[in-house]
Amino acid sequence: MTIPFDVARIREDFPILRQTIRGKPLVYLDSGASAQKPRVVIDAMVNAMETQYANIHRGLHWMSERTTDAYEATRDAVAALMNASDRAEIIFTGNSTGAMNLVAHSYGRGVLKPGQAVVISAMEHHSNIVPWQMLRDSHGIELRVAPITDAGELDMAAFEALLQDGKVGLVSITHMSNVLGTVTPAERIVQIAHAHGAKVMFDGSQAIVHRRIDVQALGCDFYCWTGHKLYGPTGIGVLWGRRELLEEMPPFMGGGDMISSVTYEKSTWAQVPHKFEAGTPAILEGIGLKAAIDYVQSIGYDAMAAHEAALTDHAIARLSAIEGIRIYGRAQDRGGVISFTLDKAHAHDVATLLDRQGIAVRAGHHCAEPLMRRLGLDSTARASFGVYTTLEEIDVLADTLNRVREFFT
Ligand code: ALA
Repeated sequence: MTIPFDVARIREDFPILRQTIRGKPLVYLDSGASAQKPRVVIDAMVNAMETQYANIHRGLHWMSERTTDAYEATRDAVAALMNASDRAEIIFTGNSTGAMNLVAHSYGRGVLKPGQAVVISAMEHHSNIVPWQMLRDSHGIELRVAPITDAGELDMAAFEALLQDGKVGLVSITHMSNVLGTVTPAERIVQIAHAHGAKVMFDGSQAIVHRRIDVQALGCDFYCWTGHKLYGPTGIGVLWGRRELLEEMPPFMGGGDMISSVTYEKSTWAQVPHKFEAGTPAILEGIGLKAAIDYVQSIGYDAMAAHEAALTDHAIARLSAIEGIRIYGRAQDRGGVISFTLDKAHAHDVATLLDRQGIAVRAGHHCAEPLMRRLGLDSTARASFGVYTTLEEIDVLADTLNRVREFFT
């Protein structure tokens, strides 16, 4: 098996990977929860703090202008990354959850009408379930859930059937499941939804790390993701939305920076994207995110995807050979997130014993309790990969899992 880029070189970019945990080399297999940060991201944030830091969009002094330029350069970088046709379509949020809440509360209350429906799928993260439940309860929106097959793919016939009555105003679906690794057929989802008069939002929190996202080619209406999974800082996420929809939507949060003028009688709103960016934003995190995007672009999505496919194939082959293991999600199109259970041990015990060997995986319901119930489980262990993950680390995971199973039998 060949690796399409020099992983050893890549690993040198991530200072945290040099350490040992409990006397063992760190094997970090939890990038799906949050990715580690390359030196360039750390340096960009530290450098901004040491040389130019000030608040943005409001100062007339040198420092504020420099920092505003640096922050706004991130908007250009994000627009280029997603092939947005207009930089004003890029709204910064705190994370994907913030983006989905923005759409639920602004598009949901301001544009959708009571009696209309929102369709999600049976493999959503809580952040793509709970905001719609809140909208249902406060605004009379119906929430419909498209089922998945036993292989963990979206049941497209059932999905289409949910749209037949023409009442669906919005489809909000993951582009890649954080539990099953399933990559959903985004273009087909958009075609079906648009044919039935519904707009489409994708939760790209996992997908943005694994494939090039071109919102114009996808044809969707909203797309969100979060910086910390793309090797950037926490506290900054992205909502891309079609400009005409963003113009139509009321603000979500009120405050500084999002207004054009304020009197006690009435306020008017700033143009998009600022209409949706109330208050001092995550300035340093925004600057760090640009460094992360530049870093990812320097590696290239094709190389990252090929590396991830090699890791995923190797992991499925090695883990499948372990007696008593069950892997969840067998989608044709899948990314480097592998959830599994061992027949003799609870997922939390598996994760704890792996941790003793310096191996970090996530265990639990992965913020997807309804999906766990669909799978007949309360939890799984999950290994997820990044650009710095090696085939040898997967071998360490598989060998250690064999020992964990022996321990429990
Ligand atoms: N949503 C993140 C995960 O899947 C935190 O782990």
